[in-house]
Amino acid sequence: EDVPLTTKAQPGPVTMEKLTSLAKRRGFVFQSSEIYGGLASTWDYGPLGVLMKQNVKAAWWRSMVQERDDIVGLDAAILMHPKVWEASGHVAGFADALVECKSCNHRFREDQLDDAKACPDCAGELTEPRMFNLMFKTFVGPVEEDAAMVYLRPETAQGIFVNFENVQTTTRKKLPFGIAQMGKSFRNEITTGNFIFRCREFEQMEMEFFVMPGDDDKWFERWVQARVDWWVGLGIRRESLRLREHGPEELSHYSKATTDIEFKFAWGWGELEGIANRTDFDLKQHAKHSGKSLKYFDEASGESVVPYVIEPASGVDRGFLAFLTDAYEEEQDPSAGSGQAKDDVRTVLRLHRAIAPIKVAVLPLSRKEPLQELAQSVYADLRKHWFVQYDAAQSIGRRYRRQDEIGTPLCVTIDFESLEDRQVTIRDRDTMEQVRVAIDELVPALRQRLEG
Ligand code: GAP
Repeated sequence: EDVPLTTKAQPGPVTMEKLTSLAKRRGFVFQSSEIYGGLASTWDYGPLGVLMKQNVKAAWWRSMVQERDDIVGLDAAILMHPKVWEASGHVAGFADALVECKSCNHRFREDQLDDAKACPDCAGELTEPRMFNLMFKTFVGPVEEDAAMVYLRPETAQGIFVNFENVQTTTRKKLPFGIAQMGKSFRNEITTGNFIFRCREFEQMEMEFFVMPGDDDKWFERWVQARVDWWVGLGIRRESLRLREHGPEELSHYSKATTDIEFKFAWGWGELEGIANRTDFDLKQHAKHSGKSLKYFDEASGESVVPYVIEPASGVDRGFLAFLTDAYEEEQDPSAGSGQAKDDVRTVLRLHRAIAPIKVAVLPLSRKEPLQELAQSVYADLRKHWFVQYDAAQSIGRRYRRQDEIGTPLCVTIDFESLEDRQVTIRDRDTMEQVRVAIDELVPALRQRLEG
């Protein structure tokens, strides 16, 4: 009740409606196959969305692989031998209990019903629960028989476990060390909705960190902390995050301990990332099912051990939504008066500069020559360094707003004086400060603000 109404005159709180509308209108996210009415829980990333998504992944890869000496990367295939999923426990255990209404035939997840006896849609009688496996099946080759059936991976992690020996012997890494992977995963989710929060096709960023048995609890704590720090380091407010430990009944079949990093989405708290202590479960299972020894020889003790695994696993799409939500702000436009109505609201995405899709916008004050020619040459030069937009349409105030709304950290304005003094103005999205710099100094001046 204390939430103010959103009017044109009044900045309001972030809502899913505002986020999805901005995402669509500005080309961040579109519904998949929209012209055919869409396909439930699948989404396409538009021209700005693809850039921002790449930035999220690049930041993760940089902190996990580039800046660390003890983690290497991998890109395993989505299709894997079907035995992988028997060994991992996903064929038997990766399922939700479903009930079906005997009258309207709608299906529900049993654990999400308040009253397990009546249909929430029509109050009809519900069936006994049946287990429904979340893995998508498909066929390899032309014959649709069981022998040729494969699954679309529901997590990227298994590609890492089955390559443990390949990676360890080729890199000669000693424990503790990790293997990181980003890529698509697929789950035939029953409850969907909330935009890109829960999709049937999504991307994960997962890292399996192999440690000596006995060192696992210590590394688990370290990774929980490191992952919180990573989100905060990229601009997510600390108060938008909280940690939640899984109770014994909630733990996945492979996990000894799991802590979720939850984010305060527009509808409430939801899982952003899970950090799990997967013990030696996966390597032991694959050793048993494949007949290959997946042990590590520890030179210090002269013994072979099956390493324990700490896994920070996050979703690119959920990260994307968290960055968008946390960055979204509406404020009374402080520049109102210069061509705008006093009651206008400025929407600004205060995205971290590493996440923002467009880093710089080039805005000539007029389309007249030779101003346009100068602006075009600045634009061509800046594009060698960053993703840059050129906008010459409408008033400068409106153009600033368009850039604020997509989170562009810096605008470069080129005016008639620029023709005389070879200087341009840099305008900062957050402080709205404007400074004049020489065109010759523009690239280092922008770099210092974007990367310094
Ligand atoms: N390998 C462990 C694992 O997959 P998970 O908690 O099921 O654990 C890890 O998934 C992360 O992947 C989640 O924290 C979430 O960010 C993302 N994720 C999982 N299911 C998703 C879905 N249906 N749509 C979007 N993201 C999803």
